[in-house]
Amino acid sequence: MRISTRAERIEPFYVMEVAKAASALAREVAHSDRPMIFLNIGEPDFTAPPLVQEAAARAVRDGATQYTQATGLEALRERISGWYAQRFGVEVPARRIVITAGASAALQLACLALIEAGDDILMPDPSYPCNRHFVSAAEGRAVLVPTSAEERFQLSAAKVQAAWTPRTRGVLLASPSNPTGTSIHPDELRRIHDVVRQREGITLIDEIYLGLSYDSTFGQTALALDDQVISINSFSKYFNMTGWRLGWLVVPEALVPVIERLAQNLFICASTVSQHAALACFEPESIAEYERRRAEFKARRDWFIPQLQALGLDVPVMPDGAFYAWADCSAACAKLGLQGSWDFAFEVMKRAHVAVTPGRDFGTAETQKFIRFSTASSMAQLQESVARLRALLA
Ligand SMILES: Cc1ncc(COP(=O)(O)O)c(C=O)c1O
Repeated sequence: MRISTRAERIEPFYVMEVAKAASALAREVAHSDRPMIFLNIGEPDFTAPPLVQEAAARAVRDGATQYTQATGLEALRERISGWYAQRFGVEVPARRIVITAGASAALQLACLALIEAGDDILMPDPSYPCNRHFVSAAEGRAVLVPTSAEERFQLSAAKVQAAWTPRTRGVLLASPSNPTGTSIHPDELRRIHDVVRQREGITLIDEIYLGLSYDSTFGQTALALDDQVISINSFSKYFNMTGWRLGWLVVPEALVPVIERLAQNLFICASTVSQHAALACFEPESIAEYERRRAEFKARRDWFIPQLQALGLDVPVMPDGAFYAWADCSAACAKLGLQGSWDFAFEVMKRAHVAVTPGRDFGTAETQKFIRFSTASSMAQLQESVARLRALLA
């Protein structure tokens, strides 16, 4: 069968190979004294809070399960608009918010609406792999721009300016970032957006970890800049609803009918039950629970990062958000006689029974030196992982 070049262009998600190997090994060691610990998974270990679960059950019981409008339930768009106003002090009218099947669908809609075949989109290296694949699925070209620890592994205005060519259509940023957990400094973000606007380009920003911020310098939404920024968001991370497949997209008003037309045709709508459930995310009781969980994520970060440093797994920039640690494993590789982070990940998995993600998926610049730990596991599991890593690296 002839496969489309579009599909062939999408690289494999190597993380899944590691995850598959980890699951296979996990079955073998399940009843040993060291069952597998999964620090490779980028999803909260919490599930939706009680009010959200009850709202989902009620929607099912009441038969509120028909399609919604392609842009989503009006009440949910209003709730999200209210969240931006209350939490971030930013006016985002509900009519600019489109509910989607996770950030993944939001990214697809934005890319399909705005990218012409052959357009270049600038992105930081390292960054979340699927984002460059969304660009490529829209026939665009993701141009990875290497970043450094000094830049918090984010693009700078100077780099955007230097990398811009007549083919460049815009930038796709993520703040906080997966895999680094680092955000773009608000002043730098403004400068980047200025550079993009001067060139009549587009600023797309993946804010899926918005809300999961631990440092008051960061944590503001890019929507505060102006009404031209396009922001992608989700119920997956801060709201702990990965498998419910719900997210949203904020676009300039003129783009809403275009996105609506695409969404009608491609998805019809996001899950109706999930939309009804998500209304309860914004109840004070649920927000209080999310904030308690955010404090828990911060406590894990505050404990885990110094432990990695002490093991010689250097984390060059303290993550200010999300739940990742991007650690340089070069010294550990030298000690164990390994070639790079891919081999290191398998060694840690086989000998310590701790699954981690090698840098390979996230770019090409320095990713053979780095591994990503997810701190979205319990403190007890993080402590046990550190003990096992210490024994491996002793
Ligand atoms: C940066 C980033 N963007 C998008 C996604 C996709 O998330 P969703 O579950 O909302 O589709 C992820 C998932 O891990 C992510 O880390």
